[in-house]
Amino acid sequence: MKVVVVGNGGREHAIAWKLLQSKQIEQVFCVPGNGGTASMENCQNLPLTVDDFEGIGQFAQNNDVTLVVVGPEVPLAKGITDYLQSKNLMVFGPTKAGAQIEASKAWAKALMQEAGIPTAKAAVFTEATAAKSYVKAQGAPIVVKADGLAAGKGVIVAETVADAQAAIEAIFQGQFGDAGRFVVIEEYLTGQEVSVLALSDGLTVRSLLPAQDHKRIGEGDTGDNTGGMGAYAPAPIATPALMERVQKEVLEKAIASLRKKGIDYRGVLYAGLMITPEGDFKVLEFNCRFGDPETQVILPLLETPLEELMLACVHQNLGKMPPIAWKNGVSATVVAAAGGYPGEYEKGKVITGIEQAQALGVTVFHAGTKLYQQHVITDGGRVLNVTGVGENFDRAIAHAYAGIRCIHFPQMYYRRDIGHRVKGNG
Ligand code: AMP
Ligand code: GLY
Repeated sequence: MKVVVVGNGGREHAIAWKLLQSKQIEQVFCVPGNGGTASMENCQNLPLTVDDFEGIGQFAQNNDVTLVVVGPEVPLAKGITDYLQSKNLMVFGPTKAGAQIEASKAWAKALMQEAGIPTAKAAVFTEATAAKSYVKAQGAPIVVKADGLAAGKGVIVAETVADAQAAIEAIFQGQFGDAGRFVVIEEYLTGQEVSVLALSDGLTVRSLLPAQDHKRIGEGDTGDNTGGMGAYAPAPIATPALMERVQKEVLEKAIASLRKKGIDYRGVLYAGLMITPEGDFKVLEFNCRFGDPETQVILPLLETPLEELMLACVHQNLGKMPPIAWKNGVSATVVAAAGGYPGEYEKGKVITGIEQAQALGVTVFHAGTKLYQQHVITDGGRVLNVTGVGENFDRAIAHAYAGIRCIHFPQMYYRRDIGHRVKGNG
């Protein structure tokens, strides 16, 4: 079977890589892909953009494509699934209505409240004055969120009331464009974050291994928020008992609530959880897609062929599948970023050492890279991920770092403390 993967990040490289491990997969086409997907056997990048629904649809129809897998949230929120379904194509990823769970934080909050899903206390505002007085009454720290998609930048954890009020002003003045038509103000929670990615066919929902991301740019979890600088799986803090509660109290409730709204949610439902110091949890956000870099640590451990799970979601027979099988061991990934990221950074730097890293047995998932003449060059902020697998976290992490130390490009930056919470766990 032939599959189109929409997107160009590390997540999409990992999805394409995993699909190609199955004998069922003849060819993967990436839209537009990156230097990594361009270099894999039986994988081809297409010169199309992720929002060219018509181009993607035409290509899929003309080339006998069985399944389109959508990586990023933006095309999902714009209705790529609805469009391709209208052309009789099979798509892994929710419809526009389903994608609201990520594309509108106010909508997601209302769903959580209706469904009785544990989440931070919050209020939604449509103008600044009322929002500012609410913040003043609540006090700081407090969290201010632009409602819509803002490339991960729309959440401000304000240490003071003044900072929160400035954030409210900036959002309503259009800092995030249309994403800032509403503001969600939320109680500040402390604890450890865990990403629980689950697959759903609209009826059944099954979680994948829990993962932990490292969102901040700096070591010791300091500095600006990023798309994610490293991850590992399975996250030990998400014990089997906790995962069982998440299944019942979050995932099943969310899918049931979506169904009640007439939404047949087929794809990834990603719950971003805060595990409180007491060991309880609350949902910080839902995403309508695979996480990046979580996917780069989850998929290397997946034993069940990925396309079987995706097709089961699309055909609504996930409930008939045997339990998802996992390989033994754990995994960790370290992201190499361009110097300056998540602020301004340069592109076009030649990357060396990828083969040397691979020779050590790590997997290099490209993100912001492209092929130029005979070189792989940088083409984005998060440039690549090096994933190591091992029998315990110390080994997986050491493996990933041994790999990344082989790789070089000017102004390359990576955190040296990925996995600090799980190191020494044996
Ligand atoms: P979100 O996109 O809603 O997950 O927010 C992005 C990041 O902001 C999260 O991963 C957390 O690190 C932080 N964050 C969001 N909501 C809260 C909250 N209520 N309390 C503390 N931190 C939060
Ligand atoms: N790694 C966080 C996300 O994918 O949203």
